[in-house]
Amino acid sequence: MEYLAGFPNWRGHIRHSNPRLDEFKAVAVSGCIGIMVIDMPDAPLPRTVLGTFGYSESEIEKEALRLQYAIKQPMRWSIEVCRSLAPMTLEINRLKKEKDVFLIAHSYQTPDITYGVADSVADSYALSKEARDSPNQTILFSSVRFMAETAKIVSPHKKVLHPSPDAGCSLSDGITAEDIVNLKERHPGVPVVCYINTSAAVKAECDVCVTSSNYLGICKKLPGDKLIFVPDRFMGKHLQKSLKGIKEVVIFDGECEVHAEFTGEKIRTWRKNMSDHGIDLVVLSHPECDSEVLDESDFIGSSELLKDEAIRLASQGKRDLMLITECGTADRVLAETEDHLNLMGSCVMCKHMKKTQLEDILQALKDPYPEQIVDLDEETIRKAKKSIDEMFRLT
Ligand code: 13P
Ligand code: SF4
Repeated sequence: MEYLAGFPNWRGHIRHSNPRLDEFKAVAVSGCIGIMVIDMPDAPLPRTVLGTFGYSESEIEKEALRLQYAIKQPMRWSIEVCRSLAPMTLEINRLKKEKDVFLIAHSYQTPDITYGVADSVADSYALSKEARDSPNQTILFSSVRFMAETAKIVSPHKKVLHPSPDAGCSLSDGITAEDIVNLKERHPGVPVVCYINTSAAVKAECDVCVTSSNYLGICKKLPGDKLIFVPDRFMGKHLQKSLKGIKEVVIFDGECEVHAEFTGEKIRTWRKNMSDHGIDLVVLSHPECDSEVLDESDFIGSSELLKDEAIRLASQGKRDLMLITECGTADRVLAETEDHLNLMGSCVMCKHMKKTQLEDILQALKDPYPEQIVDLDEETIRKAKKSIDEMFRLT
């Protein structure tokens, strides 16, 4: 058996100075499409290659070039790194075909996954729909646990593989089905809206599920003048502000540990520093951030919408952008535009999302462990599916 051993270690930033921003450290410069002064995680180190899975040197070289071209960050994702990944991406893509597997990956997965092996990359709303609609009978979901569970809920007859069963999420791990039962007892008859970042058991107790791309629209449409929103207190606060005078919103105290890192004060300071250098920043933020951050932002949207808006702005010559979110969104913007853009500020890495490696995907495809096959009881699926179907209906 041939295997690649080891996980990527991340090594120091490649530092570089942007002449317009002397006192800022320009980090991990993207060689081909512009200046990236965003503080990205350290660059990956090459994997230790134990085997080539029978691929020839020229096949590996061609695949390494394909990876490097698709990722479009040649300094962080060096040809040496891509060469060490190439046998694995070749083998995963071969196994996908052989076993008729549809591989979907969330935007926050690393670029070797999103641009090396994924059939589709998007935000949680779009991926739930793709899981539901894909004709393949096996789905491999490269992401955190609640997303793989959602795929199983929307397509119970399919086999859903989740390569990293212990990849959680601070939001979904911070609330239980019992918490929902207690809330319902305290607010009888009030509709319960749950963010998609919740377990199947929690979804089963809620009336409607929402995602970062539709929470405002769906909450506005619900009947009555009161709703319960769980578990994200920041998104809940944003809802309270947006629905003031229309609906009362009861919130829970969960938070995303990644987006909680950003504060309104940080955004104001970055904006001012850039403005002192004659740079008029456009700030794009994910709605899992504190509402103070959202108040300072020019655009609010899901991971997919943030990526699309950054690309649209760059195409119109608006190049100085700040992405207030997880680092995977910057990776996607860099890979999917040919326009020059300057990404400023700092992104934060989600340790749960980054748990999945190509090695895990390869292993789950070849011979999954029982815990890598998502298994939910029928009653939970039936009840949770109602809240997701209601989301599809109201979106
Ligand atoms: P998106 O639906 O915007 O991709 O968000 C999911 C998530 O977990 C963001 O932290
Ligand atoms: Fe959960 Fe936040 Fe990570 Fe998204 S970024 S998976 S909300 S911890």
